[in-house]
Amino acid sequence: MIRESIQRLGFAYRRLTQRKLDILDQLEEEHIRVELKFLQFRFSKNVETRRKLIQQIKKDLLRHMHLEETIFYSACSEIAELKEMIAESRVEHKQVRALLEDIGDHSPTSERVSAEMKVLMEEVEHHVYEEENEIFPRVRTYMKKSQLNKLSREFRKAKHEKEKPSRAAA
Ligand SMILES: [Fe+2]
Ligand SMILES: [Fe+2]
Repeated sequence: MIRESIQRLGFAYRRLTQRKLDILDQLEEEHIRVELKFLQFRFSKNVETRRKLIQQIKKDLLRHMHLEETIFYSACSEIAELKEMIAESRVEHKQVRALLEDIGDHSPTSERVSAEMKVLMEEVEHHVYEEENEIFPRVRTYMKKSQLNKLSREFRKAKHEKEKPSRAAA
């Protein structure tokens, strides 16, 4: 997983420096960010670091899933070739949300929380794999370029607006 994440980060970085990211690149970039936080979590033994990482992972995943559902999935479900996959993805989001809620207030270094995080990581990894390898290529094939551009702009704008309050609070 480490090697894959580093490789993918390299790809994402090269794309970042070469062209403006479309919505699929932006979603992939968010996936990589979360994966890196999962990695940090796995290798950290420090209670406070782990606690902060859990909070960040929760926040990032909830925000990612919300934007994905409202902007991306809603547009994809209008394409016949994607409808079923998107319905399945929405169910997986529900499962991720349930797992996030389950991560309780036990110590972040406890076996219980480690096990809960492991299940969450596996679920997210599986979901991300399907999005990037099954959904995104179909979107590139079946979605009109003009719509992809429109969604890319919407996503960038929504992301920016969502980030504003947290920046102000920081
Ligand atoms: Fe998703
Ligand atoms: Fe995603």
